[in-house]
Amino acid sequence: MTEALKFHHIGFAVRDLDATASLYENGGYRRSAVVFDPIQHVNVCWLTREGAPIIELLAAADEDSPVNSILEKVGVSPYHCCYVVDRLEDAVEALRKQKYTLVKRAAEAVAFNGSRVCFLFNRNIGLIELVEAPAEIVL
Ligand code: NI
Repeated sequence: MTEALKFHHIGFAVRDLDATASLYENGGYRRSAVVFDPIQHVNVCWLTREGAPIIELLAAADEDSPVNSILEKVGVSPYHCCYVVDRLEDAVEALRKQKYTLVKRAAEAVAFNGSRVCFLFNRNIGLIELVEAPAEIVL
């Protein structure tokens, strides 16, 4: 990791956005509208509650969605933590020196109002997502 990483959210792979979101609503979370992201092949719903980390629910939007393989391997589960950075390329370069591998190159994310995201993997950390500031979530 590096100190430049600011925690943003935990991403969960889910089968049914509405079913999962309503369970969180029972716990006092507010849910956003569902955002379709054709670039990432996902449908996204944000869950927020004061004093709690932001939760991102991701459901597969089609057969090519990366969410499908997560669901096959481990079922509904958290599978990435996301961090905000000032500049994606600088952060990726710093993390590569710590044996993180870029698994998904920078692309705009609809659920972040067009801010760019990328994904990296480290065998002792797992999957992380980086989002470039301002990283405003679409609620
Ligand atoms: Ni995410």
